[in-house]
Amino acid sequence: MLSTDALADKFLRLRGDFPVFRENPGLVYLDSAATTQKPESVIGSIVDFYEKSNSNVHRGVYPLAERATSLYENSRRAVSVFLDSSYEEVIFTKSTTEGLNMLASSLAGTGVYKTFAVPVFEHHSNFVPWQQYAKRNGLDFLPLPVSGVELSIESVRRVLSQIRAPFVFAVTGLVNSTGYRTDFEEIAELVHNHGGVIALDGAQLIPHERFSFRNSEIDFLAFSGHKLLAETGVGCLLMKKKFQEEIPPFLFGGEMVNWVEESDTSFAEGVSKFEGGTPNISGAISLKAAVEYLETVDMDLLEAHVANLTDLARQKLSAIPGLTIHSPENSHAIVMFTHEKIHSHDLSEFLGRRLNIAVRSGHHCSQLQLKSLGLTSSCRASFYLYNTFEDVGRLAEGIEEAVRWFL
Ligand code: ALA
Repeated sequence: MLSTDALADKFLRLRGDFPVFRENPGLVYLDSAATTQKPESVIGSIVDFYEKSNSNVHRGVYPLAERATSLYENSRRAVSVFLDSSYEEVIFTKSTTEGLNMLASSLAGTGVYKTFAVPVFEHHSNFVPWQQYAKRNGLDFLPLPVSGVELSIESVRRVLSQIRAPFVFAVTGLVNSTGYRTDFEEIAELVHNHGGVIALDGAQLIPHERFSFRNSEIDFLAFSGHKLLAETGVGCLLMKKKFQEEIPPFLFGGEMVNWVEESDTSFAEGVSKFEGGTPNISGAISLKAAVEYLETVDMDLLEAHVANLTDLARQKLSAIPGLTIHSPENSHAIVMFTHEKIHSHDLSEFLGRRLNIAVRSGHHCSQLQLKSLGLTSSCRASFYLYNTFEDVGRLAEGIEEAVRWFL
């Protein structure tokens, strides 16, 4: 592994791949947990598709359409390589939210699962769908309390010993508000031992660490493209093959059928069954460019660089009087904080408007996590491969300047 400084140098050189920093001199972008900036290769892949190969996929048999289909399917292949999964396990969706909604509605509809269990620190997109589809289908819904910002294995074990099986346990890999990394590998093992299946919200995890779907005990994995350098409006749901027959299609429509009769329809096999309608073709193509970029960068180096930035941010911000850091010691890529006297919206607006530092403020679509901390709002700085130590320094100095200005 490279030294901290060598890593920082390597990633500093990569900043040049991101046109947004050329176009916005002085921008300190610390909101990658909301969406990442895009490298030239990703932007170029979208333009290239529209200029040279635009057509619908899986339909026409003329050369342009065949080229579009092959680009789209190559993207599925690239995602499966990136996540070490089978090509036949990758379903394209619009986003993590869509993937999780589709999954919750379909699993509820199978009539197999009795209970949906979800920790309360989840992003709303991994909480509300399970809560609502359980309600709609008369299933038990079990919101797991968290102690502060962490979920202990002991509390999961306790809950699982009382749960009605078979059940679905949905959990994030990395909490979007605090950056807490869950023990999802251990949780998955426990879930299986108790007769459940496990869905992982990978929205924040997948951009940040190497992941093998093949070697994990995760049954379903949802993530979004735009949080790992690709376009918005594209994501994936990975589904282990053994579930694909039992789970009914999510969206009825074009290209997901085998045969349609007046009285009934038979459906396509494999992942096609779950991809009704025209997909986001350029989005999928941009996702291929994104994962190829990340593979060139090397996910292990990326993880180490982002860990160095997060550690430095925790260290610098914890030295500012009046500031509380809510992220735990193991938080990765994300630092959530509040100031005792300055509202997070005021702080975030000051940083953005006066100093060109972008951090998110609010409840981060995680009202229950904030409630468990006695908060309704906080600031969140999040880091990605193009961030530098200087960005972290500017954030700390910016907060100190805000404190002087407001108080
Ligand atoms: N889910 C994204 C976030 O956490 C938008 O900011």
